[in-house]
Amino acid sequence: MRKPDRPSLVARGEHLYRRREGDFHSYWTEALGEPAPVYGERITSLDEVVLRRWDPSRSKLGAALANDWEGPVPRSGERWLYLGASTGTTASHVADLVGMDGFVFAVEKSLRPFARLLALAQRYPNLGPVLGDARDPFAYLPVVPPVDGVYLDVAQPDQVEIGLASARWFLRPAGAVVIALKTASMGRQRSAREHLLDATRQLEGAIDVEETLSLEPYHKRHFLLGGRPTGGSPPTEGRPVTNRPVRPSVRRS
Ligand SMILES: C[S@@+](CC[C@H](N)C(=O)[O-])C[C@H]1O[C@@H](n2cnc3c(N)ncnc32)[C@H](O)[C@@H]1O
Repeated sequence: MRKPDRPSLVARGEHLYRRREGDFHSYWTEALGEPAPVYGERITSLDEVVLRRWDPSRSKLGAALANDWEGPVPRSGERWLYLGASTGTTASHVADLVGMDGFVFAVEKSLRPFARLLALAQRYPNLGPVLGDARDPFAYLPVVPPVDGVYLDVAQPDQVEIGLASARWFLRPAGAVVIALKTASMGRQRSAREHLLDATRQLEGAIDVEETLSLEPYHKRHFLLGGRPTGGSPPTEGRPVTNRPVRPSVRRS
């Protein structure tokens, strides 16, 4: 692991750094894409390495880290399926984390953000945009191999079902599932905490939830949930999910 030469920036994992800023910590990822800023985030450097500040108010995973998330985080060399990638703000940081030996399959269903995601992929060799609906995984099953992690941020009422189905179809045994839960999308009749309880109940028996964390104050009524398949295996019901390495088939040319 790279040793930072500035005392204020501390390595928190491969490609991930943290710096104390007053009462909280900011997180930084090693910029893999060029040029470095993706959404106007601050840039700094450490030795020869360019670092991008992960803005917690623009990213659920960034907010979770700022709130001391202890659940799964994408690691160097891993392949992740990212559902609800939008223009790629968070997906770009995930791509930084998995590095050149990893890959991020970034699914987005709306054309407008997808166009910007495509442009981003021109700068990010390990980011593969997929125009698709996360409710219809069969459409992109042929181009997405088994992955080490599924990250879901679709802000839909059936977000937990989508996460479960995606884990079933794409997750390797012992892979990680991370769900950004927007409770406002699940109805206003119940409290955010009640929706969180419902979501964890829905996951029971399929995913062992390791961590649930409120994303306040950065994202109101949002939580991040992270876990791994119960018993170490995703609830496979069709495609056999194996540990066999498969080359990513969605790459920019
Ligand atoms: C909250 S935004 C995602 C923000 C993004 N994850 C980030 O942090 O940079 C939710 C995105 O999910 C997309 N989305 C909603 N339903 C979807 C679905 N069924 N399949 C794929 N994408 C979906 C929306 O178009 C939108 O871009």
